[in-house]
Amino acid sequence: MINRKLVLVLGFLLFGMILYAQKTGGRNTINLDANWRFHLGNAADPDKDFNYKVADIFSKSGHADKTAIDPAFVELGWTTIQIPHDWVVELPFVNSTNGDVESHGYKPVGGLYPETSVGWYRKHFEVNSADKGKRVVIRFDGIYRDAKFWINGFYMGTNESGYMGVTYDITDFINFDKKNVLVVRVDASQYEGWFYEGAGIYRHVWLTTYNDVHVSDHGIFVHADVGKDSASVIIESTVENSNSTGSECTVSSCITDRSGNVLASAQDQKILIPSTGKEIVRQHIKIEHPSLWSLNDPNLYKAVVVLKSGAQIIDSVNTRFGIRTVRFDADKGLFLNGENVKIHGVCCHQDHAGIGVAVPDDIVLYRLRLLKEMGVNAYRTSHNPPAPELLDACDSLGILVLDETRLLDSGPEYLAQFERMILRDRNHPSIFLWSIGNEEGYIQGNETGKRIASTFIAHQQELDPTRVSTYAADIGNSYEGINEVIPVRGFNYRQSAVADYHKSHPLQPIIGTEMGSTVTTRGIFSKDTVRCYVPDEDITAPSWASTAETWWKLCADQPWWMGGFVWTGFDYRGEPTPYHWPNINSHFGILDVCGFPKNIYYYYQSWWTDKDVLHISPHWNWKGQEGKPIHVFVNTNAGNVELFLNDKSLGKKTMERNSHLEWEVPYQPGILKAIASKNGRTFSSQVETTGDPAKIILVPDRKVFKTTGQDFIAVNVSVVDNENREVPDAGNLIRFMVKGDAFIVGVGNGDPSSHDPDKCQGNHWQRKLFNGKCQVIIRSGKFSGPVEIDAVSDGLVTGSVNVEEIP
Ligand code: GAL
Repeated sequence: MINRKLVLVLGFLLFGMILYAQKTGGRNTINLDANWRFHLGNAADPDKDFNYKVADIFSKSGHADKTAIDPAFVELGWTTIQIPHDWVVELPFVNSTNGDVESHGYKPVGGLYPETSVGWYRKHFEVNSADKGKRVVIRFDGIYRDAKFWINGFYMGTNESGYMGVTYDITDFINFDKKNVLVVRVDASQYEGWFYEGAGIYRHVWLTTYNDVHVSDHGIFVHADVGKDSASVIIESTVENSNSTGSECTVSSCITDRSGNVLASAQDQKILIPSTGKEIVRQHIKIEHPSLWSLNDPNLYKAVVVLKSGAQIIDSVNTRFGIRTVRFDADKGLFLNGENVKIHGVCCHQDHAGIGVAVPDDIVLYRLRLLKEMGVNAYRTSHNPPAPELLDACDSLGILVLDETRLLDSGPEYLAQFERMILRDRNHPSIFLWSIGNEEGYIQGNETGKRIASTFIAHQQELDPTRVSTYAADIGNSYEGINEVIPVRGFNYRQSAVADYHKSHPLQPIIGTEMGSTVTTRGIFSKDTVRCYVPDEDITAPSWASTAETWWKLCADQPWWMGGFVWTGFDYRGEPTPYHWPNINSHFGILDVCGFPKNIYYYYQSWWTDKDVLHISPHWNWKGQEGKPIHVFVNTNAGNVELFLNDKSLGKKTMERNSHLEWEVPYQPGILKAIASKNGRTFSSQVETTGDPAKIILVPDRKVFKTTGQDFIAVNVSVVDNENREVPDAGNLIRFMVKGDAFIVGVGNGDPSSHDPDKCQGNHWQRKLFNGKCQVIIRSGKFSGPVEIDAVSDGLVTGSVNVEEIP
């Protein structure tokens, strides 16, 4: 059994390596996230949009004066920002009856708010004249949305997608050893989804230089045929020649282990690539006794492809990949490397407390680790392609991914988005299935939907014959339309129709693409329709959904039901179901927007892990409720549990599999303790009445970071009483300060109805605790030296924590 901590540490290190180790022979990639200039534009008023739409920017090449596109433009009143950036987080909430504004989290963005829906970005950078003769390429991993790009006044193009990035070759326009100005106009007037989507350049930006003859963008495809004692790895390299004459080169490929030791190499191949042409080279490398990529031991290899001209290396690309098999069986479910795996999945949107969709890689990893701890083994990127780093992290941690495109429409725009997603992502061993779409209500049950889906499936097979696709359908057990052609049948909710469908279509594998969806508010134990809270227990689900226990009991013991993805892993901004204003975020999460677990976390953890889980809820601070009955839930995977109040037994109960236990306990302050027996062992857990808050406690998700200016730490904040017991219902206002070279980037507390700012107000970074907890997110600076994070509140002992620099 591999040590889980080791996996996490390895995952972290590999993840870091990917971000910073970018220099290989002939090719150099640098990160371009730092020091962008930003200003809001205006979709309705050209004056406030730097003359965009009134200046004749498209009439002559390289001509854009009187606009913010002009390289000489003076950025008066612009702010300096770092990527990832989401300007919507900083906007106030607006009470609107418009359904789209509500579903996007009541923020003034979209067609109704022209003055806050366009953003201009400018970045100054230099390219060394040593790179003259090389190609210079800029890559944006994600911009929300409809972005137009100019370099030194020359128009590059438009990327409509808010989720798939774009790459431009900007070689012809570069001023070597002088200032270059990259300008991006981002227009979020139109929505893509029905959830908080943010706005801005919210994923990394990269600048790469390489030679005329080079490996194409996403030009490597590595996959393996796995035999009994060996695997035949196929490396397909697309080599491109941007030169005006034909060029010869040799393609050398090898495979290394994760430490870089060469395991085996392919026969070199010589190719002639015509001017401005492309060639695909296929090489086979045999790996004896491969270490397979699995959930407990996510072993990764590296494919190294080197292009040579004579003896000189002209390009080199490293691609991480894993060797594993995936098989879908209509009777027995999913098999990974021949072993049956039940999908313990969650659907997630991408936003996090305090930072919106501008989620740094470290916070992505933080979120995934919380899920993995809970027993999650699969992640659905609902309803859009994720950041590349999320896939890297899933590869490293051993989490399967259902990778989903934004829209099912086989017109050129969305088909191209789907294809770009596959080309970008197909080397990730974590991806076990593609999703061609979600709940396309206008087409899913008809002939048009069937035709569009067939086109998508054909293109997917062409670009990645090693996988198949599913589609997230919300049409009960109906078969007509997309379901007739989809290789794996996805069910959104309608869990009671699944068994009937399986009976009538026994040859189609079935997966729950959206399951459960209990609505809960962390730390709340009675319904509150004024503040818009729902009890933090597995009891309330919207009409179309179900509680955790309802769907999981139906699914758990059916081998043909592959498992499913709960809607959702985390709360997210928008869709404030079952309420409206002043409620601004969803209640569907198993964890809140900060990643603080709700009680349902322990239900899933009980049945999705082998850990000893024993969790009592609610807390035991019910001053004024003495003698009144309190409904107590116990989540455990033990055989039985005895509950005690102040040492007096309240009875022993036997645990039914995939269930939970309940007691009705007349409240008395003191200690409520559970003792569980599991396989002849006992263990215990308790909740205890606390005193008033006395001291602030800060717990960072790690105590070290690199002074790259790009390392992030989530610091969780709570308060304890004089006896060091955490006070679960505290609501103190906490103020934060950082000493040393680091910055606060956001604060949150998981309260779905809070309108308090996520960003600095005046000079203050502050947040109230919500049911005892809040969170502050810190970014490292670039200078060495101690960093201390302090938290103060009236009448409480100050909390503080130090973060050390990793040399
Ligand atoms: C589903 C949909 C999700 C989300 C959810 C809320 O139908 O696919 O995106 O809206 O409902 O319950």
